[in-house]
Amino acid sequence: MAIEENREMKVAIIGFGLIGRERYNALRELQRGGFPINEIGVYDPYIPEENKYNSGIIWFESLKEIEENNPDWVIVCTPHYVTVEIIKIASKWNCRILMEKPFGRNYKEALELDSLFNNDLINRCYVGFNYRFYPGIQKIYADYRNGLFGEIINMNCELGHGGNPDDANTWKSSPELNGSGALCDPGIHLIDLLNQFCIYGIVPKYGTAHKGVWNTGIQEEVNLILTSKNPVDGKNFSINLKSSLVHWRSTFRFEIWGDKGYGIVTGRGRSYGPMEYVRGEKWGWKKGVSQRESEQLVSLSTCELSFYDELKALFFEKNNDGGNLVYRLEPCNSFEALLNMKLYEDCFRVII
Ligand SMILES: NC(=O)c1ccc[n+]([C@@H]2O[C@H](COP(=O)([O-])OP(=O)(O)OC[C@H]3O[C@@H](n4cnc5c(N)ncnc54)[C@H](O)[C@@H]3O)[C@@H](O)[C@H]2O)c1
Repeated sequence: MAIEENREMKVAIIGFGLIGRERYNALRELQRGGFPINEIGVYDPYIPEENKYNSGIIWFESLKEIEENNPDWVIVCTPHYVTVEIIKIASKWNCRILMEKPFGRNYKEALELDSLFNNDLINRCYVGFNYRFYPGIQKIYADYRNGLFGEIINMNCELGHGGNPDDANTWKSSPELNGSGALCDPGIHLIDLLNQFCIYGIVPKYGTAHKGVWNTGIQEEVNLILTSKNPVDGKNFSINLKSSLVHWRSTFRFEIWGDKGYGIVTGRGRSYGPMEYVRGEKWGWKKGVSQRESEQLVSLSTCELSFYDELKALFFEKNNDGGNLVYRLEPCNSFEALLNMKLYEDCFRVII
């Protein structure tokens, strides 16, 4: 399937809820910044007509109408159980696809999705993992790949929120409609980051799940211990992963502890607080200050631009570092998304 590069593009968004709107705003921002997007259309049959009227948005009435419009990119932001069916249809169109995470509700579904694209000569399906584009995450990734922390002893990551009382009645609290719960959504973001950082693979060792607050059958909190290997000395290091839907204080934390130093990323904007990336050296206190005073604040961000940055990288930027080795996380293609779902499945086997 040939898709022409570098021309004015048309984009269709399917699903206009929380994330469909984020994607729409990011596309409008790209347009305003002069990027060659000449049309953004939206399809969501559940938006009331009175909200569509005068909204200034181009609305599609059906999937057929999107196909006839021949968009270059389709962005799918629907509930997980709907997404799979829409991707089966959109995979037959002459377009590229960005679907929001996860890549199916389980590994079996991910394999089915992957089979729709694996005859293509180019990457035609990507999966939205905007956490890759948080400034603190990009910077800790570059520091890690540049060896600043030395041999790794431990990685520790945590993602949690408490939702709101109405969540119990939405698709997000249903194991059939959403997926298993906290490990699938939002925990798949942590799995994705760990897969990017741990290039020698990850082995889940032990895990526990809590199910007793919402009582809808989903895993409300998952805690896991995993291992990976250091690239240089080949020694194992440990990973702690916690993903929770019953964390009454919104929390995001991604830490790397090595034999030379450490990096700590906390927050991800809004109710999580600003994202701070702090870096420290082993025994920094030897410089005559406290350990905390010896640390360096590398980056402070509201994380408001992650959807914009992800789309910019996906549509317009090729990974061209001009010959310099620049470590940067890129948009997630369907192959990486499949590996995420494989690790997700492996994690399940160790949860007691
Ligand atoms: N990256 C992130 O930070 C992040 C955060 C939240 C959600 N997500 C992902 O985004 C996706 C959507 O989640 P959300 O929070 O926006 O959900 P949502 O429930 O807020 O929105 C889903 C929208 O899809 C629409 N929809 C339902 N069936 C449809 C159909 N057949 N055709 C077209 N539209 C349809 C609904 O009317 C609704 O407006 C999910 O994959 C979710 O995991 C990502």
